[in-house]
Amino acid sequence: MNVSEQKTKLHIQMSVNGERYDVDVEPRQLLSDVLRHQVGLTGTHVGCEHGVCGACTVLVDGMPQRSCLIFAVQAEGMEITTIEGVTPALGLSSLQEAFQKHHALQCGFCTPGFVLSAEALLRDKPNPDESQIREALSGNICRCTGYQAIVDAVLEAASKGGE
Ligand code: FES
Ligand code: FES
Repeated sequence: MNVSEQKTKLHIQMSVNGERYDVDVEPRQLLSDVLRHQVGLTGTHVGCEHGVCGACTVLVDGMPQRSCLIFAVQAEGMEITTIEGVTPALGLSSLQEAFQKHHALQCGFCTPGFVLSAEALLRDKPNPDESQIREALSGNICRCTGYQAIVDAVLEAASKGGE
């Protein structure tokens, strides 16, 4: 790191999936990029990079947020949950199993964002109906599935009690 780079970087602390991270970031850096390139959690996908597709969704203090619309410096002191944080060390969560069973993904690019949005929904509303699921997932775009399989997967996970 040269002198001018050092000057422009800010030190932040944040919790990611329950682990504390200390990182030096430039004020312009997006949370999505810091998660992928500095923290090394590439499950957070970056699609549109301007808040439209939802692929970069993570939980920030428990709430689904688009990490491409958050500067990393804004995450100082916050609890971030990425797709890696809701995935068991071995196997899949019951929600992820339901996605698999219902073929709720094809290319899978959108899937981490959908899973995290659905996780937050099921935590707050364990028995959502179809319209509530569609509303909760309305900020996530999938170019492959047509959505019905995703809704079916979340309905099944809800019927089994979420995680
Ligand atoms: S990459 Fe963030 S909303 Fe599309
Ligand atoms: S599975 Fe391909 S974009 Fe959703």
